[in-house]
Amino acid sequence: MSDVPLSTPFDEFARWFAEAKAAEPTLPEAMSVATATADGSPSLRMVLLKAFDERGFVFYTNFESRKGDELAANPRAALCFHWKSLLKQVRIEGRTEEVTKAEADAYFASRVRGSQIAATASPQSRPYHEPDAFEKILKQTEARLADVATVPRPTYWSGYRVMPDVFEFWEERPFRLHDRLVYRRAGQGWTTERLFP
Ligand SMILES: Cc1cc2nc3c(=O)[nH]c(=O)nc-3n(C[C@H](O)[C@H](O)[C@H](O)COP(=O)(O)O)c2cc1C
Repeated sequence: MSDVPLSTPFDEFARWFAEAKAAEPTLPEAMSVATATADGSPSLRMVLLKAFDERGFVFYTNFESRKGDELAANPRAALCFHWKSLLKQVRIEGRTEEVTKAEADAYFASRVRGSQIAATASPQSRPYHEPDAFEKILKQTEARLADVATVPRPTYWSGYRVMPDVFEFWEERPFRLHDRLVYRRAGQGWTTERLFP
């Protein structure tokens, strides 16, 4: 006998995500990511989900960005998907870890050269004061890499994996009788409960 339930929140997410990919006109993989400073001050932004499996949900970014600084100090994040065409929302909360170097290298290598150069050039989330500062740094980076056939992945650019311990699946119902199903990690399995809308 196995303790693993027949349907996991990952299976449920996969089902909803497949529906969203068929129904959403743009970017079904867009999700908001909330992080917080060590003393609990929150911040939120959109990113793109690039992979998910039973280990967690992966997005790529600059590790020296604001979110990178916050995740270094407080390695927990919350994700939220809202698929308007389905009237569905999924919330996910968990610890974060950096993806393996092999995963990050493979994803970076799959991007077009222009995106690789922009990711390399941009000190994400840092301020600039001259109007053409980004153009300049982009040109310098292009020149530096002109003879390099394969743009190397910068050490400051990689992926975070959010490893869920809570999922909430929310579905709109008439008269605000919305359905909210929460999964919480419990040992090797998951407990479920419904919340009032
Ligand atoms: C739809 C959408 C998708 C985005 N995807 C990403 C992404 O995958 N990675 C990323 O670093 N920024 C992405 N961004 C930009 C972020 O929202 C944000 O501006 C940037 O990561 C800097 O955030 P921070 O200063 O809080 O670190 C996306 C923005 C939008 C609107």
